[in-house]
Amino acid sequence: MWGGRFAAGPSAIMREINASIPFDKALWGQDIAASKAHVAMLGAQAIISADDAAKIAAGLDQVAAEYAAQGVPEDWDLEDIHMTTESRLAELIGPVAGRLHTARSRNDQVATDFRLWVRDMLDQTDAGLQALQVALVTRADEHAASIMPGFTHLQTAQPVTLGHHLLAYYEMVRRDRSRLAAARVRMNECPLGAAALAGTGFPIDRHATAAALGFDRPTANSLDSVSDRDFALDFLMAAAQISLHLSRLAEEFIIWASQPFGFVVLPDSLSTGSSIMPQKKNPDAAELVRGHAGRIVGSLTSLIITMKGLPLAYSKYMQDDKPPVFEAASLLALSIAAMTGMVAEARFRNQRMRAAAELGYATATDLADWLVRQADIPFRQAHHITGTAVRLAESRGIALDQLPLADLQEIDPRIDQRVFAALSVEASVAARVSHGGTAPAQVAQRVAQARRDLGLES
Ligand code: ARG
Repeated sequence: MWGGRFAAGPSAIMREINASIPFDKALWGQDIAASKAHVAMLGAQAIISADDAAKIAAGLDQVAAEYAAQGVPEDWDLEDIHMTTESRLAELIGPVAGRLHTARSRNDQVATDFRLWVRDMLDQTDAGLQALQVALVTRADEHAASIMPGFTHLQTAQPVTLGHHLLAYYEMVRRDRSRLAAARVRMNECPLGAAALAGTGFPIDRHATAAALGFDRPTANSLDSVSDRDFALDFLMAAAQISLHLSRLAEEFIIWASQPFGFVVLPDSLSTGSSIMPQKKNPDAAELVRGHAGRIVGSLTSLIITMKGLPLAYSKYMQDDKPPVFEAASLLALSIAAMTGMVAEARFRNQRMRAAAELGYATATDLADWLVRQADIPFRQAHHITGTAVRLAESRGIALDQLPLADLQEIDPRIDQRVFAALSVEASVAARVSHGGTAPAQVAQRVAQARRDLGLES
């Protein structure tokens, strides 16, 4: 494709280090679509004849059909998907194929193809996250009143509802989807027509190609167009954030499924056994979601470092943009699917969770709150009185509400019989009705809103 200037061909090492076809063949669909938009525009603008444009378009369809049926051939001499397609086109329709590259460069071509690919991935990721939200909201609805211990420092803190805990992840995913949406708006400008770096003297119509490819408008600066990889970084940053959220959810399932907790039984379909210990059922899918988060963040780091300090405009460094994005995208899709299945199919053990919530003096705050409300004691003082009660109960190995009233009154005479009603885990969660609180009524309200937002309710 560029042999004219050269006396000798590239060495084997040059061919190998230069070839991106082993990975950028994934862009073949986008490459054909962008070429078809380009050639239609060349014809419409009479830059090439209508007849040639039609021949090239038909040839491109034929190449696409071959790729779909047999895959993309990997010839290192042809470097990348752009040259592979053009070379096959020339074999099929002859020298007229050479008119396709008029007013275009591989620099704006790859920028366009890759944008189209990333745009599809933003949409697919969003659809995956929506399915995860549906699973979270469905299980939250079912468990709006299921009581479990809430933790801080992984120490029992206060009782919460499982529905509330699951909805916490619904909120994270909601923000993640807004990240994807914002990235999509920002990236949806078409670089095609920037040519190598400076634009072109041919009377191209960039608005036409932008519209044909579903972009909102053409990009505004040709140098920026061929050197910008913000769109790929935006995707990776969102992917990294999403994978962090998924890894936290995964770790909760890992902890909850361990025998001392026993809060959840993982679906067989998303667990594995041990080759030596017959009783084992391991949360491998969840563990790998955690592992994949590391690799996704690694992909982001990789492209950040590639782009750092690059002068304008296109440099070959940028060919290394695709492997990290491709890897992150497939790991992320798998992780989202795995966690969606886990949330949808896990069996939560309400009695174990409730029993755990009774341990660790989880309702101590409720005693302090009761003293504030019923006895008008300042909270700091109430905190101190409650601490004394906890210490006494702990020394006897009993729960707070098992302390005889007489002992409680010895600690503070203002305590009376009514306090016991406040000390149950049910009363504790039911009391937390503040906006965004864990009370079953609050959870039900948030579930209803979420279902409307997800279009599950008419
Ligand atoms: N395979 C290249 C890439 O992915 C396409 C652009 C090549 N442009 C060039 N001037 N060598 O970056």
